[in-house]
Amino acid sequence: MPSSYKIAGISGSLREGSYNSAALKTLKDMAPDALDISLLSLQNIEPFNEDVEAEGWPVNVARLRNEVQDSEGVIIATPEYNYSVPGVLKNAIDWLSRPTGKSPLTSKPVGLVGASPSKVGTARAQAHLRQSLYYIGMPLLPTGEVIISDAAEKFDQQGRLVDDETRTFLQNFLKDFEHWVGLHAVNPG
Ligand code: FNR
Repeated sequence: MPSSYKIAGISGSLREGSYNSAALKTLKDMAPDALDISLLSLQNIEPFNEDVEAEGWPVNVARLRNEVQDSEGVIIATPEYNYSVPGVLKNAIDWLSRPTGKSPLTSKPVGLVGASPSKVGTARAQAHLRQSLYYIGMPLLPTGEVIISDAAEKFDQQGRLVDDETRTFLQNFLKDFEHWVGLHAVNPG
């Protein structure tokens, strides 16, 4: 087993005070030694266009692809927009799904989390995201949705998690995800 697994952390929000980015940062900070989580940026990823793709990967897409390629697992923190996946995240996944059959996402174990100021927000977005990840061939951590509801009360103004129950919930998610990544590692043992 490698000393730690490299995990690509992707937040579906570009917002400075994003709860989803805060959740991902919290996961990074509390991760066991076996999980080395990097926070990837979706800033300046241009809209997917097959004509642009045909001319070569745009520089920020190439960076993102390389970071995902170098990882052994992926954690996605998704907001919910209009009961679905934010366009920014879907756009990034569309880029990363290419070329068909050689996507850097394919076969990478993935875990989903979502944070929303509402009670059930992100359940619907996560359901939609699962469809896309299934099509791309990512083994998805088979636990129930990891939903951080009432996010405005769970994070402080600095984006620090201040809710003990959520902390325990996320710790359990990380434990399950570490096991899941181990099961899917290319060279386990
Ligand atoms: C939202 N929001 C939202 N929340 C939710 O629970 N279900 C939804 O369908 C929507 N729809 C929606 C559409 C659009 C266009 C926006 C801008 C917002 C609210 C959303 O959960 C809230 O803005 C979160 O704070 C977004 O996540 P980040 O940026 O904090 O990570």
